[in-house]
Amino acid sequence: MQSPKLPAKEEVKYKYYAGFSNTFVQDVLERFSTSATRVLDPWNGSGATTSVCAHLGIQSVGADINPAMLPVAWARLARSDLVLKLCKHLAAQRSSHLFSASHLGAQENDLLSSFFDSKSAANLRILRAYLIDAANVHAAGLDSNELAALSGAAFIVLSEVLREALRPLRGTNPSWFSRPRHKEQLVQLDRAELHSLLLRAVAGLEASSKSAPNARPDHFQWPDLRVCDSRQNLANLGKFNLAITSPPYCTRIDYAVATIPEQLALGELDEIGFLALRREIMGSVVTEKHSSGPPEVSPTSLLGRTLTAIQNHPTKAAGTYYSRYFSKYFDDLLRSISQLTSVIENGHIAVVVQSSYFKDVKIDLSGIVTEAMLAKGLTLSSSRAHFAKSSIAWSNPKFKLYRSSNVDTEDVLVFATSPITQRGLQ
Ligand SMILES: C[S@@+](CC[C@H](N)C(=O)[O-])C[C@H]1O[C@@H](n2cnc3c(N)ncnc32)[C@H](O)[C@@H]1O
Repeated sequence: MQSPKLPAKEEVKYKYYAGFSNTFVQDVLERFSTSATRVLDPWNGSGATTSVCAHLGIQSVGADINPAMLPVAWARLARSDLVLKLCKHLAAQRSSHLFSASHLGAQENDLLSSFFDSKSAANLRILRAYLIDAANVHAAGLDSNELAALSGAAFIVLSEVLREALRPLRGTNPSWFSRPRHKEQLVQLDRAELHSLLLRAVAGLEASSKSAPNARPDHFQWPDLRVCDSRQNLANLGKFNLAITSPPYCTRIDYAVATIPEQLALGELDEIGFLALRREIMGSVVTEKHSSGPPEVSPTSLLGRTLTAIQNHPTKAAGTYYSRYFSKYFDDLLRSISQLTSVIENGHIAVVVQSSYFKDVKIDLSGIVTEAMLAKGLTLSSSRAHFAKSSIAWSNPKFKLYRSSNVDTEDVLVFATSPITQRGLQ
């Protein structure tokens, strides 16, 4: 089985920190798909699963709770000749045209004002409106899917501009942006600076699109991409016979904060909406003091023992905040696994997981996911470990106090609903 790691040479329009590689998805499809396959990724992120399925002519559905991941997954499907045309158009625009009054960006209560001073936020709104228009300029003759994909490419440009613009608020952890607390900390950028960030983002997109093939294969199948919560709504998506997916890891990556540039580019959420997303998204560091408590599991199970070890750990806040955090994460994961297993019929679920540590307590995500899948009546048909560095979110120079290595494995687990159909495993 191929490693899920993103190889440096694999050209993707959006280098998502948690994405897995196209070759990994291809490998799983080769081993487990049949002509009748309908594929699901309930944590679709930047959409590796749906993009590979589309190019192979396989029907797929990609769901993600984060609305900002939708245009990212669409962008992966954009035709490269159209993207290159869009890049050429954007690169040719003078700053005075980009910021002309005809592209007024409305919506004053979006999140931009929380990060940028009022002038910069206003300019970014104009740029956002301009980029939406720019995709439409090339829309003649395109069907709605093709337009959504091209708009996704314009969205990637804007997200890149915003990611760079937010650089002063980034620390060593690439998935975190700090919040300005005072007016003086708001980011300020003039139009010339924004224009040069735009040109850089366009050049980046152009470079990654040049090597991509122009023509679509005849069998190309647009995926169904949607916002959906894996903990409760998967039944609405119908039945599937294969899932290729990777849940949010238990490494305190706050996926809502990590995608702040994309949230700003989308402009849909205000502060209240953003906080709601932060509460709901799995793996979130936001926990409620009066949460529902730990999931109901036997104290002798792997998950039960892990939660007890965290609860009883001598470190500060282990019995309070950290217990709440891990209880919520695993409650969300078990609910999602219950949903996922109910929509896969006569097929397989391929899951990529990475284990992690809380101090010296190993969070054996691979073992815990296996335990949950077996409890749902599935069988483990293949398991393969690939070495990976421990997540940056937990990486702390003091890790040596607790363990000798900061390297762990990323595991590829394949489960079968009965009957088991093992084909050329390992
Ligand atoms: C590890 S990433 C998946 C990466 C993906 N395999 C790729 O190639 O980009 C996990 C994804 O799960 C999403 N997510 C978190 N909580 C969710 C939920 N309750 N329902 C659906 N998606 C969720 C996050 O927004 C994130 O995009």
